[in-house]
Amino acid sequence: MTQIGIDKIGLALPEYVLRLTDLAKARGVDPDKYTLGLMQEAMAIAPLSQDIVTLGAQASAAILDDDDKAHIDMIILGTETGIDQSKAAAVYIHGLLGIQPFARSIELKEACYSAAAGLEMAYNHILARPDSKVLVIASDIAKYGLQSSGEPTQGAGAIAMLVTANPRILALNGDNVYQTRDVMDFWRPNYSPYPQVDGHFSTLQYTDCLTTTFNYYKEKHAKSLEDFAAVCLHIPFAKQGLKGLRALNPSPAQEERFMEAIRYNQQVGNIYTGSLFLSFLSLIEQSKALKAGDQILFYSYGSGAVCELFSGTLVQGYENLLQSNRLEKLANRTPISVADYEKVFFETIVIDEEGNSSPLPNDPSPFALIAIDHHKRIYRSMID
Ligand code: HMG
Repeated sequence: MTQIGIDKIGLALPEYVLRLTDLAKARGVDPDKYTLGLMQEAMAIAPLSQDIVTLGAQASAAILDDDDKAHIDMIILGTETGIDQSKAAAVYIHGLLGIQPFARSIELKEACYSAAAGLEMAYNHILARPDSKVLVIASDIAKYGLQSSGEPTQGAGAIAMLVTANPRILALNGDNVYQTRDVMDFWRPNYSPYPQVDGHFSTLQYTDCLTTTFNYYKEKHAKSLEDFAAVCLHIPFAKQGLKGLRALNPSPAQEERFMEAIRYNQQVGNIYTGSLFLSFLSLIEQSKALKAGDQILFYSYGSGAVCELFSGTLVQGYENLLQSNRLEKLANRTPISVADYEKVFFETIVIDEEGNSSPLPNDPSPFALIAIDHHKRIYRSMID
């Protein structure tokens, strides 16, 4: 049977970074709580001119060539920080990237989970139409609010994945299992800019959903944890992922792979829908121990709650599609002070009576939101 899966994977992050040791100092907290207790180092900070569209477009532009743009016939964007109740952010991205017109562009929502659903939708789409390509984007800006319990776990960024037949990075194994449970661990009512969070309850839900779904997965597919060279988990903060992994009784090698899989997340923070795939990118770019044919187990968790387990197999030559200098790029972002973070990350666009904003700050990123004109978002692209 033809293999279907991830052919390319791209990442976009905003330019600014806040060190958690600086945040700890400003909040009067022992820095070890953030760096050892949560196992996080830094968080990516997006200015007003960056949103899920600009970050999603940038992550996609980093991997797509003209042939891809001519063959993509579906764009699925997972997010929980939508910019419009009606129009899908994927439609803006379709336009900004110049993808051929006869494509379907949609947005999916279920907290941090929806991009995993998008990936399986893409798989089934390619199964029915092997010549087409699907762009799956996970794009979010995670804001919990100043001095909230989740503040040190914020972040911003996007992952783009091109799903095709005969993929060159990861063949999906088509063994997805899911669980839904109606719980209030984290949610964001329409009237609120920040989520409501029952933090400790959410950590218990994350792990309980994982272990119960894994039992179901094992039953259904006659597989065990030993079948996997590595486990990639949703990473709201690295310690949560480690606790989840440990609940499955991993081998020492699987714990070593986990430490490789969190390196990018520790520098970026929670990017909600993209966190699982950022962890996958970190794993395959940072691990020297993996090889083609290795199977990887994925755990997606979205509060509310829906979770999913699925697996994939690394394809021969996958390392040729990756970047070797990502950690240097992360280290070269522009550091921001706590005072500037409080301004830049929490500033909001002011709209006058006619639906116009004042011009937004100049932003040299490949894609930027430059204004709102009569309630219409105006984007600028520096890409041909
Ligand atoms: P908190 O209550 O302030 O922290 O925030 P804590 O007291 O639980 O401490 C955290 C850890 O630091 C603990 O480690 C402490 O012992 C340790 P643990 O015992 O758990 O291993 N610690 C220290 N270590 C060293 N030196 C010290 C020190 N002090 C303490 N001096 C909380 C924690 C999770 C509540 C907070 O970060 C939060 O509200 N986060 C947001 C919610 C979240 O991320 N939940 C995760 C599961 S739900 C999920 O993943 C979905 C999500 O992504 C949203 C979506 O789906 O859309 C969030």
